[in-house]
Amino acid sequence: MIRKTENDSGLTFFLGNERLSCLMKIRWGKLQLLHMGAPVLPEDADAMCCSTLFGWGNDVLYSQEDNGSSLDTMPLAWSETGAGDYRESPVEILVDGEPLSGDFVYSYSETADEPAAETSVMPHASGEHETLKIVMRSDNALLDGLRLELYFSLFDTVLVRRTVLVNDSDRSVCVKKLMSACVDLKGDYVMSTFDGGWIRETHRHDVPVSYSRIVNESTNGFSSNRHNPGFLLAARDANEDSGEVFGFNLVWSGNHYSSAQRSAVGFTRVLQGISPEGLCAEMPQGQRFETPDAVIAWSERGYNGLSERMHDFINDCVVPKYWRRRERPVLFNSWEGCMFSFTESKLISLARKAKKLGCELFVLDDGWFGERNDDHAGLGDYNVNRKKLPGGLEGLSRRIHAEGMQFGLWFEPEAVNPDSDCYRAHPDWVLASPGSGELYGRNELLLDLTKSEVRDYIVNSVSAILDATDIQYVKWDMNRCSPVTGEKAYEYILGLYEVLGRIFRPRPQILLEGCASGGNRFDLGMLCFAPQIWASDDTDPIERLNIQTGLSYLYPQSTMGAHISAAPHAMTLRNTPLSTRANVSFFGAFGLEFDLDRMQPVDEAELKDIIAYYKARRKTFQFGCFRRNRAENGAVCWQVSDAERCLCGLFHRLVPAGPELEWLCAELPEKDAVYTVESRPQLLRVRQFGGLLKHILPIELDPEGRVLRTADRHYKMYDGKTEAVCSGRALRAGIPLGKRFSGTGYDKDLRVQGDFGSNLFEIKKQN
Ligand code: DGJ
Repeated sequence: MIRKTENDSGLTFFLGNERLSCLMKIRWGKLQLLHMGAPVLPEDADAMCCSTLFGWGNDVLYSQEDNGSSLDTMPLAWSETGAGDYRESPVEILVDGEPLSGDFVYSYSETADEPAAETSVMPHASGEHETLKIVMRSDNALLDGLRLELYFSLFDTVLVRRTVLVNDSDRSVCVKKLMSACVDLKGDYVMSTFDGGWIRETHRHDVPVSYSRIVNESTNGFSSNRHNPGFLLAARDANEDSGEVFGFNLVWSGNHYSSAQRSAVGFTRVLQGISPEGLCAEMPQGQRFETPDAVIAWSERGYNGLSERMHDFINDCVVPKYWRRRERPVLFNSWEGCMFSFTESKLISLARKAKKLGCELFVLDDGWFGERNDDHAGLGDYNVNRKKLPGGLEGLSRRIHAEGMQFGLWFEPEAVNPDSDCYRAHPDWVLASPGSGELYGRNELLLDLTKSEVRDYIVNSVSAILDATDIQYVKWDMNRCSPVTGEKAYEYILGLYEVLGRIFRPRPQILLEGCASGGNRFDLGMLCFAPQIWASDDTDPIERLNIQTGLSYLYPQSTMGAHISAAPHAMTLRNTPLSTRANVSFFGAFGLEFDLDRMQPVDEAELKDIIAYYKARRKTFQFGCFRRNRAENGAVCWQVSDAERCLCGLFHRLVPAGPELEWLCAELPEKDAVYTVESRPQLLRVRQFGGLLKHILPIELDPEGRVLRTADRHYKMYDGKTEAVCSGRALRAGIPLGKRFSGTGYDKDLRVQGDFGSNLFEIKKQN
């Protein structure tokens, strides 16, 4: 509900529902934030207004008539420098090279069901919502006609804000900084950011918010694998299940900036928006400058409660309409198994095997066009490599479909190799650093997406292939950081959005997966076009525990590409059981990515079971409500649940000698209902026991010999199973699991586990 109220005390705005609320008031023309977070009522405005503000000491008063008009001590929903607020400003404007305060004051407001999407250059969340637009005009005589449009959209689980600066003054202004949102929150917080780099994205880091400013920013041109734009502010006593937590994110794929800083009177100022680094956007008369949507969610049910709000918002309002809550196919991707080296018959053999295992979609990754036999050549060209694919893409797609699979294809349209026909014909199309010229990353240059002829080239080239070939999926990759910052980097992302919109909006059934060397662009902007994003080039399941846990705070499982790959792993050389690789990948948009021609018969059998298990429960895995459960001794426990079932993955890193008893904790909807618990049957490999086998076999065999090697490839040896019947209450308290291997012999009920072991449990209500 949005309500605007005017009485003797002034004009107030209320946006709220059962999940969160925001109360604002106009004071001296400025936008005071009375409340943000827990649901309150519109009638609470007067009671929640700090009337005795601290206008004393050396404070500067905004209104000489009112001793309480110190903006520095007032909680605000928008601010600027030059009016007595000395906290960080959400806006900076230069006129003739000099900083100038706009002195923006309330002008008028209106409500609308939809934001002005037609005039907007940004992608927006969509779905049921109401929007309040508050217009602030410049009270600075030099800037008469300059105005700010502040948009507040209330969705079911989040509040979305954005800002537009409109220059109807008679002079040109330069935007140095313009944030999407500014809020002053009361309370004492810990800020969680999700940081890392290539193959170690989104690791959670916590810092207490204090009087020094904490900045979460990306400057590599993209939302980045360095610092995801999403972050959290949690009350100091919050945990996974209780306490106040705010979540913030941006519908933006470029350089971003957010900050949190506590003020002397106890408010925490939070800013969210595009990065001001290098920004100086000239705005001649008549121009608009638009910021992306900033998302704010709140929960009093701890981090898990907050994640649920963000997940629902993304599944229901961010990803393209066609793919909302629509199940994703199990895919096989050629990359890690083949890299650039394949033939058509190799691909068909892989497709046949993938189909036999239960995969539904075959994806041909890099290497299908131009002279692309490694990463030095071919990017920018779209002519199929006939040496590898004599039947062309159409022929390949036909053959893949004849095997009973859908067909998907990889593109990297934003980049070009100097060794390509595209670059030779258009060397002026590339994006160069203003200082250092052509800067290479993975032997490639980015195309300048701010040029309309470049955008047309990409749209026409990709569309022609999509129209000529029977294609159900596209992987859109981008493998380097940008050589530019500031306005150029901002306009690049707008160019990218235009390209994605032109290609994919007319083809909504194509499942688009975003990718940028893995997670260099895992953000809500890309999710507006691509319902899923390749979470990381690191598919080692133990590394994925950190990466996917980090992502899970802000993004739902349906959005995270997660594949089973080979062991030892290409990025870590770590050897992990197939069961754990599967159990981790289940909590995402699941697939396979290794050379199936190298599969052992026992793995093949297990993979068939794994894929059948996933498919039978995929709705729960992809769209069930996700939680991070309690787990002992550094283990990780993920839970997804819906009306039909609850699934819990319990994962270990290194196994200790003489391990303690282990417990499964889960959160079920009905505390007094009776539930059955059953672990997914999983196999052990004979080779895991090496020479120790002589202790349990009647004869002694050479652990490296042919007999045991053959047994290892073929023999199905099951790990100990868990079965239990108990109440929801017992599961919340934790039920003990069967004994783990501890060096005192082996029997079939023992859970062997070992390093990097895991289990997957299905919990169902008993009929
Ligand atoms: C980087 C991606 O993250 C990989 O999955 C793969 O598509 C390669 N690029 C191909 O070059």
